[in-house]
Amino acid sequence: MKFLATELIQKKRGGLELKDDEIAFMIHGYLDGSVPDYQMSAFLMTVFFNGMSDRETWTLTQLMMHSGRVLDFSHLGIAVDKHSTGGVGDKTSLILAPIAAAAGIPVPMIAGRGLGHTGGTIDKLETIPGFSCALSIERFQEQVAKHRLALIGQTDEICPADKKIYALRDVTATIESLPLICASIMSKKMAEGIQGLVLDVKWGSGAFMKTVDQAKELAERLCAIGSAGGKKVVAVVSDMNQPLGRFIGNSLEVEECLAILERKGLRGRALSEFSDCETLSLELAGAMIWLGGKASSAADGVSMAREILESGAALKKFQELIELQGGRLSELPQAVATQDVVSSAAGTIRSFDTAAIGSAALMLGAGRQKTTDVIDPTAGIEALVRIGDPVKVGTPLFKLYGKKNLSTVRDRLVLATHVDNSLPSASAGDLIAFKNY
Ligand code: URA
Repeated sequence: MKFLATELIQKKRGGLELKDDEIAFMIHGYLDGSVPDYQMSAFLMTVFFNGMSDRETWTLTQLMMHSGRVLDFSHLGIAVDKHSTGGVGDKTSLILAPIAAAAGIPVPMIAGRGLGHTGGTIDKLETIPGFSCALSIERFQEQVAKHRLALIGQTDEICPADKKIYALRDVTATIESLPLICASIMSKKMAEGIQGLVLDVKWGSGAFMKTVDQAKELAERLCAIGSAGGKKVVAVVSDMNQPLGRFIGNSLEVEECLAILERKGLRGRALSEFSDCETLSLELAGAMIWLGGKASSAADGVSMAREILESGAALKKFQELIELQGGRLSELPQAVATQDVVSSAAGTIRSFDTAAIGSAALMLGAGRQKTTDVIDPTAGIEALVRIGDPVKVGTPLFKLYGKKNLSTVRDRLVLATHVDNSLPSASAGDLIAFKNY
């Protein structure tokens, strides 16, 4: 044994920079079991408080990336994926992946499950009866080669170090650390074998980064790591101060994506009411098309993305994806509304505690508190109001779908909605800032 884990934790705790072999000792040791959970937890907490230099972050990223198989799709052209730092009602993957694939870009997407108050693409797709996110790596590669699109969950074969460390961070309050987020995202995306990556870095009350400046710093560090790894990376910094779109919850979010792909309304709402989700999906898909070399600029990419969406080609690609992976879209379970949550104040909606709204959806059954919890596919929340809307006492704010914890959820949602008559804050209503780093 070359080092003692306790000495390395002490070194990092003292604010010193770790050498490459010292970081390797911690990561390899955690994977083979010689560094136990409690020492890794202490190590992660020292990183949380003391940060990591660019060199340490790069080393950590490389070690995590090479902890499993590293795929390569370069023979298919420029393969591109998108990754979001996590949000509430964040369902853009189901719209942008078929758009980019319909534009001819290979999209090998390895997606995650819900984490904390944020939702996950895999949980949404698994509400479609029969749909399998557990393809073998060989089948995943074949499907991307033949159909340009495949979507699977994280496996033990690719980036196992991220899978194990991420689960530990989730239960040790060490998620919101810049170097840990950078290494987690970039290791798994670089292992996926893509050449281009579009990042949706979220800021606001429903994001891990609470301010736009923190999100920009994260975006810059993620882009720098991607460039060092020889990847083309673009970051979109987007607003997460209110849920994206109108629906939060797994089957409800699939329904909302389908409505956008089918160009129609849903559950009494017009298509235009999902415009924030549609706009962000088109920005991200446009950046993917540009990185994939099918458009001469991001703006051209967005126009192409819009045409593909409006022509029905994206819907066709989405249906093809679901069928290829065994899903029966016509059997999507239908959520039933159980009650409304009404305003207890009069005035204007100034802000939301969006993370609390995500946690409320989780309590209804849309997410997990423990990894062993079973999700209720149809549980969720419909947001009836947006920032800037006027409300009276008794105005419905949210519609609940689900049967669990109704009174706690109701109280949480009322507390999470801030109504007053002050002047609007500068950020209210901002949707998206686009930056090519
Ligand atoms: N998403 C990830 O994949 N990793 C993080 O650490 C945070 C968000």
